[in-house]
Amino acid sequence: NTWTTDLRYKPYRNWKKSYVHSLAKSVHYSFWRTDYHIQPATGLLNDPNGFSYFNGKWQLFYQSYPFGPVHGLKSWFHIESKDLVHWKNIGPALLPDSKFDSQGVYSGSALPVKNSLFIMYTGNTRDTNWRRHSYQNGAWLDPNNKITKLPNPLISNVPSNYTNEFRDPQITKTKTGYMAIIGGQNINLQGKILLFTSADLKIWKFQDELHFSNKILGCMIECPNLIFIGKKPVLIFCPQKLEKNILNYKNIYPNTYITGNRFDKKEATIDQPTSLKNLDDGFDIYATQAFNAPDGRALAISWVGLPDISYPTDKDGWANCLSLVKELTLKHDHLYQYPVKETQSLRKMPTFKNITIFNTNTILFKNTSNSYELEVDVPQNTNGDLNIMADSSNKYSVKISFNTIKGTVIVDRAKSGICFAEKYGFKRTSILPAHKPLTLNVFVDKSIIEIYLNKGYKVVTLRVFPNKFQNQINVSTKRALSIKSCLWNLTQ
Ligand code: FRU
Repeated sequence: NTWTTDLRYKPYRNWKKSYVHSLAKSVHYSFWRTDYHIQPATGLLNDPNGFSYFNGKWQLFYQSYPFGPVHGLKSWFHIESKDLVHWKNIGPALLPDSKFDSQGVYSGSALPVKNSLFIMYTGNTRDTNWRRHSYQNGAWLDPNNKITKLPNPLISNVPSNYTNEFRDPQITKTKTGYMAIIGGQNINLQGKILLFTSADLKIWKFQDELHFSNKILGCMIECPNLIFIGKKPVLIFCPQKLEKNILNYKNIYPNTYITGNRFDKKEATIDQPTSLKNLDDGFDIYATQAFNAPDGRALAISWVGLPDISYPTDKDGWANCLSLVKELTLKHDHLYQYPVKETQSLRKMPTFKNITIFNTNTILFKNTSNSYELEVDVPQNTNGDLNIMADSSNKYSVKISFNTIKGTVIVDRAKSGICFAEKYGFKRTSILPAHKPLTLNVFVDKSIIEIYLNKGYKVVTLRVFPNKFQNQINVSTKRALSIKSCLWNLTQ
């Protein structure tokens, strides 16, 4: 297929069932399908949407283009879970079938209201000159998973002084009603977040742009999320084309966050905001969606993939997956992210292995399934390499170089298998406190790796596309090194 614009925007009803069937078959045989991460049945997945708790279950949707591994006409696909770990496919939920979302049901969020789930999403439309007009739309999901779109948009026009790059509403409940923050761009082409309020979910008023930084935040902000940990606001967002002197990042676009001391809704202000930080130190995190769950936890899930990048699974007819669900906490004002405790229910029998090596390369585990959690404890003031998905000669591997003298972890995917996204470099560095021991929790799942450093002080997420013979874990060092490790196979 050559994915022309016409083909990518071909109406869903015009695709033949037999085509989708053969696509599903090709996807099924893909070597890089994950075991315990959310992935599309066919085609492309991007942003997580509508993450919420409703009807006694965790509800989640994702941006879907089911007909190929490209960004085409988007819809929402619905999945649900009892434990945030085992997910069940419910099916396509919001299709681009109305005049207010004809060119794509774009990202949004959800909020339980009485006995239904209220969904707020962006409807993307284009005029005959392919100029964009964005609507913010509403829909209801009932406890039988029946969806009813509202006949008219909640917000039909972008406020003056902003452009039609206006999308991804995050709806939340406030003391007096509802609030939505929406990603946008002002007429000077600067990234902004717009704050709207509503007393009744029907009439939405533009209040102000959100004040949280005196920097120019790129040319457009996508996927804003404001959550609270204790009373402290955490704002997670994706500024496009952000200057590198504002934030040091290597990916095409960063997924960033700030924390503050207090959120003042009336003034639309986050008090004492920090500077921008990378949410993830890895290669592939974008469009993270977070919410304050009714059980008191702040939960987040990310798209593991980036806009405008091709992945080696494209040839198999699918692209991208979602991260594990992460709990967000603040410790001494530092944001920690760690897979929710329910993730431990995937663990099978542990295998412990403690080794001391001198100036050599040693096998830690052989014949791994490439679906496991590996925990490694490294003492302070040492250094070495942990090679996962390594082949027997250690020529191929994902190389995790740790240095607990300086306090750095460098992840190198240059020789991790099939190369991709070469333009954005092969290494990412995480900075940790120096002269301190290090714990690594590495979640490996066929073609995705999530590395949590010191129980979530930093996170490094990456896609990798290993060859069949890369199923070993090696450790190498230039001086004496003792490590403790434990491996659990993870299966659903
Ligand atoms: C972010 C994004 C959103 C948009 C959606 C479309 O990845 O571009 O801004 O709503 O994806 O699929």
